[in-house]
Amino acid sequence: MRHNVIIDCDPGHDDVFAIGLAASFCNILGITSVVGNSIIENTTTNALIAANLFDLQDVPVVMGAKYPLSGNIDHVTQAHGESGLDGPIRRTPYGRLDDRDAVDFLVETCRTNEGAWIVAIGPLTNIALAIRADRTIVNKISGISLMGGSLTHGNVTAAAEYNIWFDPQAASEVFGSGARIKMCGLDLTDQLTVNGKFAADLMEISTDTSRFCSELIDYYQGYAAKMAGVTGPESLLVGAPLHDPCAVLAITHPELFTSERMDVIIETTGIHTLGMTLADTRPWENHSESLIEVMKSINAKEALQIIVNSFKVAK
Ligand code: RIB
Ligand code: CA
Repeated sequence: MRHNVIIDCDPGHDDVFAIGLAASFCNILGITSVVGNSIIENTTTNALIAANLFDLQDVPVVMGAKYPLSGNIDHVTQAHGESGLDGPIRRTPYGRLDDRDAVDFLVETCRTNEGAWIVAIGPLTNIALAIRADRTIVNKISGISLMGGSLTHGNVTAAAEYNIWFDPQAASEVFGSGARIKMCGLDLTDQLTVNGKFAADLMEISTDTSRFCSELIDYYQGYAAKMAGVTGPESLLVGAPLHDPCAVLAITHPELFTSERMDVIIETTGIHTLGMTLADTRPWENHSESLIEVMKSINAKEALQIIVNSFKVAK
């Protein structure tokens, strides 16, 4: 079954792979960009580049929030570079940006496509604004499958994962909105790592898209190796977590996952814990009715094969 999805993203190397997966397995109703990995102008251009890569000419790409509702406007640009998509030669995308307002687009598309999924793989600013505009959309959509948060560790701080940290207020409103949520946090997404072999596999497919995405992995995996302090030929063996595709696979291939329902709240004021996703795991509290399904494990080998195979279908 090809689910109807709206992708809200801040491309972002891993966002591109999520969009590619959705192009293969979903019916993409629209792509909305949000500030995050880079400034909104860059994440929007990068969303158009991704739409070109996966032949999504008929899919509206709509520019979203320039600033978060709260939190930091500090683009931690090491992982994705100044452009948000460093590595391959910078491309000028073709195709026109849809000039609708992203919040209006999200609300209207959720209203008119009952049962659609929102795939949120950047900060949750646009999603929070759409829910503020019309709270009833949370009952019209199947849910929000998001990459964000963590049960155990952060990446941008010791406590917080980047998407949540970047706009904790938006995340708090989305998690508390009554929407059904699939949460793909770092505990899960750090299981889906790629290395130099993955880049080589993509390069071997020899299409423009697979070559471009291979070069994205070269850059992204190179950063992971640098962070690990590994140089030389060994550096190609260092795994880089491919976070965002997990949020698509959680919808398209649920059999790859195990999950647990948990009550999760967001720290919006902590000095050391700002942006932390705090899961209530007290066993004497009943969490089985929680609307938040925390994804716990993924069959990474199978998931990576699905991703590589999706590039083999002519693009
Ligand atoms: O922490 C990982 C998340 O931050 C991913 O969505 C990645 O694209 C970056 O936005
Ligand atoms: Ca992202």
